Amino acid sequence: MDKLVVDCQGRLSGSVEISGAKNAALPILMGCLLAETPVRLSNVPHLMDVTTTIQLLASMGVEIQFDEHLTIEIDASQVKEKEAPYELVKTMRASILVLGPLLGRFGEARVSLPGGCAIGSRPVNIHIEGMEKMGAEIVVEEGYIVAKSNGRLRGAEIVMDPVTVTGTENLLMAAVLAEGTTILRNAAREPEVTDLAEFLNEMGANITGLGTDTLVIEGVEHLMGVDYSVIPDRIEAGTYLAAAAITQSQLTVTNVNPEHLSIVLKKFEDAGADIFCSDTEVTLDMRNKTLKPVDIRTDPYPLFPTDMQAQFLVMNVLAEGESTIQETIFENRFMHVSELVRMGADITVEGNTAYVKGVKALFGAPVMATDLRASASLILAGLVAEGKTVINRVYHIDRGYELIEEKFHKLGAHIYRITD
Ligand code: EPU
Repeated sequence: MDKLVVDCQGRLSGSVEISGAKNAALPILMGCLLAETPVRLSNVPHLMDVTTTIQLLASMGVEIQFDEHLTIEIDASQVKEKEAPYELVKTMRASILVLGPLLGRFGEARVSLPGGCAIGSRPVNIHIEGMEKMGAEIVVEEGYIVAKSNGRLRGAEIVMDPVTVTGTENLLMAAVLAEGTTILRNAAREPEVTDLAEFLNEMGANITGLGTDTLVIEGVEHLMGVDYSVIPDRIEAGTYLAAAAITQSQLTVTNVNPEHLSIVLKKFEDAGADIFCSDTEVTLDMRNKTLKPVDIRTDPYPLFPTDMQAQFLVMNVLAEGESTIQETIFENRFMHVSELVRMGADITVEGNTAYVKGVKALFGAPVMATDLRASASLILAGLVAEGKTVINRVYHIDRGYELIEEKFHKLGAHIYRITD
């Protein structure tokens, strides 16, 4: 199994191009199942989760081709299997996102019920209840969600509680081909949800209220393929900016949408960084400055993202003073804490809150990656820890960060992969 070795290297500098957003690319790829003619997607990141999604679509009979610019053409005109098997769902929970499009277009789907994962139990009851409200008959048999509808789904009014990102996406994709009007209340407002809705509208869907917590969908009869480019990954961008903050460096992230990062950039400023934005770039300057502690509470967009919690936790570990980090989205998203403590961090977790006391230095150690963002936080800690940090189970990182070693090398970091 691969390991990443990170060596303390002082400052970083330069610029890094941000890839397309994983959490937008996945639902958009699944959304291609709704189109009767081929879709061409660009700015899709090359990640394990994207490969898994392509395998999943291919297993259904969808034809997939890549051109020399790595644009992906997805032809779902012939879908033979309406199933997401356990073998693929167990490696990627987002596979549940085929349920809405399969049911909406074909009136049937068989999708392995995702289990819990390292960061929480992550039920999908809201996805299922919403589709039942739209007229689907759903049972769970032998670990599979088996869904059927007699003809087209029917529009319905659905209130989602709590706010759910993939739940909103799945119900959106079920509703676009339903008969009549669907109203999704308390919908997730994440930019990735809006990107999916814009993609569906370009294919011929009629969704209004984009970017708000009420999405109104007038069902249409057909959707057709389009050319579409996925939005940049705000979490990847935030992770590199956090690397600059932690190493007291100046660096620029390019191919980003700074609006998607508003609250994160505000928190970087609270931590003492200078931030400069243009339409598609953000520069963070932390040279000759001391990190200040910032209190964080994770919440649905537009508030602070849970996917940036681990990275800010490492910033706080190295800040002068005390801070609290409250995680309100997932019940078990502090697994990086025990690894950071092994590197010399002073953190105590009580319930959903981490209490952090800044330390002067961290020390390299063998550590274990437990989920995607936790893994990123261990790389960040490794950039400043004295000595070598060896991160085990790096497959978590490969699920969500494209070319992470290459990108860090370009910025001057010492980070390399070893294979046992
Ligand atoms: N929830 C329910 N019932 C449901 C659905 C969700 O109770 O039917 C709960 C969850 O257990 C959780 C909360 O609602 O406590 C929010 O979960 P949500 O459904 O919004 O999360 P998700 O859609 O499974 C997506 C991202 C995550 C990101 C979260 C929150 C994708 C593929 N995944 O997950 O990304 O952390 O939204 O923003 O879009 C990551 O990229 O590292 C990652 C974990």
